[in-house]
Amino acid sequence: MAPSLLSADFGRLDAAIDEVTPAADWLHLDVMDGHFVPNLTIGPPVVASLRGHTDLFFDTHLMITEPARYLEAFRRAGADGCTVHVEVGGTASLVRQMRDLGLRVGLAANPDTPFEAVEPFLDTVDLVLCMTVFPGFGGQAFMPEVLSKVSAVRAAVDAAGLDVDVEVDGGIGPATVAAAAEAGANVFVAGSAVFGSDDPAAAADELRRLAASATVASSVGSTRSVGSTG
Ligand code: DX5
Ligand code: ZN
Repeated sequence: MAPSLLSADFGRLDAAIDEVTPAADWLHLDVMDGHFVPNLTIGPPVVASLRGHTDLFFDTHLMITEPARYLEAFRRAGADGCTVHVEVGGTASLVRQMRDLGLRVGLAANPDTPFEAVEPFLDTVDLVLCMTVFPGFGGQAFMPEVLSKVSAVRAAVDAAGLDVDVEVDGGIGPATVAAAAEAGANVFVAGSAVFGSDDPAAAADELRRLAASATVASSVGSTRSVGSTG
């Protein structure tokens, strides 16, 4: 579970982090530059301030046109992982730069970007983020047509024996998280479903429970069976 602070109150991010920490594995930080997406959010100074407040893993989603210019600043600010979009190009070089900086390496694909765009990089990254909305805003409707790409990434990663997380982001909530888990996602970003709730930690725990039961159900019915040694 990676709650996205995008739907939290930006005037009290420290309190929002405290509320969600008991149910969060990671914190998802959405960085937008007004170019790659039509919205603006936070940059390295805010990440650095948050870093002083929590030890949670910072899953930093860079929806920006020129990540190469800012990766070092985000690393210094305390980002643990950064995810760049394959659509901005120069992916091989960005992956190298992230590795050299000691970042966990993520690669994101928009809903209309095909599996084939990320496939060549699967053995060089730690995480593939399949956007289940067009990035830029919280609270949008989940796009089920992305699930076939989630399945394709999961199948390729498993077939190659790679240790790569498959993350979904956008419209993840009680009605959609199970489908994403069944398709093979194992990291779930949720903004409005968590921070729109009166009890963000309980909302995140419920999503985790729904994802876990869907994962067990789908692996019982597949060749990746529970208890299998392969
Ligand atoms: C969308 C961001 C998401 C956003 C998701 O551009 O990348 O991380 O916070 O928000 P919800 O969960 O409300 O769709
Ligand atoms: Zn995001």
